Amino acid sequence: MAALDPAPPGRGPAEVAAGVLELSDLTKRFSAHGRAAVDGISLTVPAGEVCVLIGPSGCGKTTAMRMINRLIEPTSGDIRLDGRSVRDFSPHQLRRRIGYVIQQVGLMPHLTVAANVATVPRLLGWDRERTRARTRELLDLIGLDPDEYGPRYPAELSGGQQQRVGLARALAGDPPLMLMDEPFSAVDPITRERLQNDFLRLHRAVPKTVVFVSHDIDEAVKMGDRVAVMREGRIVQYAPPAELLARPADDFVADFVGADRALKSLSLTRLEDLDLLPAPLVRAGDEVAAVRARLESGELEPLGGTVLVVDPGGRPAAWIPVARLEGQVRVPADAGQADPVLDRITTLRDALSAILESGAAYGTVVDGEGRVTGLVGLDEIGRAIRRPAEVA
Ligand SMILES: Nc1ncnc2c1ncn2[C@@H]1O[C@H](COP(=O)(O)OP(=O)(O)OP(=O)(O)O)[C@@H](O)[C@H]1O
Ligand SMILES: [Mg+2]
Repeated sequence: MAALDPAPPGRGPAEVAAGVLELSDLTKRFSAHGRAAVDGISLTVPAGEVCVLIGPSGCGKTTAMRMINRLIEPTSGDIRLDGRSVRDFSPHQLRRRIGYVIQQVGLMPHLTVAANVATVPRLLGWDRERTRARTRELLDLIGLDPDEYGPRYPAELSGGQQQRVGLARALAGDPPLMLMDEPFSAVDPITRERLQNDFLRLHRAVPKTVVFVSHDIDEAVKMGDRVAVMREGRIVQYAPPAELLARPADDFVADFVGADRALKSLSLTRLEDLDLLPAPLVRAGDEVAAVRARLESGELEPLGGTVLVVDPGGRPAAWIPVARLEGQVRVPADAGQADPVLDRITTLRDALSAILESGAAYGTVVDGEGRVTGLVGLDEIGRAIRRPAEVA
């Protein structure tokens, strides 16, 4: 058994499994004569990609997931992870290679948040110091302060925070494959959008193969490199989101995707793919005389008579009228007037909604460090809609 599982704690990058997942003709019948819950599905998820399973309640999504990590044994067919059948792995080995975020969060109520996150590292026999460091790293990653939240119990967290901890727990052993069963379903739309963006950011930093179950076509289009639409245990269409929206395989998929496909295709493009409007930036601490020189040379072009003040780190603080500048540029007391501030990985759909809600003419686009990279307004989004060929 141990010979099959050579990766020691602290493995180097060369030992990290690639994480290609193949399901072939996979079937599950819960009773001998009943309808198959999963009925001969085949699909391949390339390493590092996110595959979203979507379909109506009861169509077999959870059953398919649970066969991958052998919580349920298939009736027939096979599942291979990097070319090796999951039947050749012990449950312990699978737990190390596959992170699982279940539909109902499933944190252990009698363990602290830190202990919940440390479940897999403990199982893997990591020493205390390494486990502690990994737990802190993950809590930081999901935006929960380890000192404040680590000692709390799950009941002392909000639903969205619990879902974050579920995600951290699944990531703890750094598995090459993640199974996520409606991980963000139990939270309000705003928290869900934030969790989705956090996840996408994480996924970019540390790509993993992911099977992600969703009920929500918008979420599927946003999160998936490919989307498998399921119906009654079968896969009706397996395609990248752009193709699903442009060419639904049949009426069922077309219905599922919905009538507002043009609007949905806004979720396929992110702000970083757009030509942004340059922001008229002045930095806190700049001499106003120098700012005026930039204005006169035309290098700095105010928008509606205002410029955007950024703090010394380049993060947006406030729009202020050029006429109010004097002496040295300062972050004004009414800072926070640069809203909405949008991470560059925000989809056009989410950006549009944020701009409309705020009533501002422009959203301020920032990079991963929060520094301003440009502005987006309805014109920039409109141009992207009118160029659908480039959107995909
Ligand atoms: N342990 C079980 N015993 C018998 N039937 C089961 C069992 N688990 C699931 N089923 C049946 O298999 C089918 C697929 O269930 P599954 O949980 O995979 O659906 P799902 O697509 O995940 O649905 P939802 O979106 O509601 O979570 C359903 O008809 C369900 O009743
Ligand atoms: Mg389910």
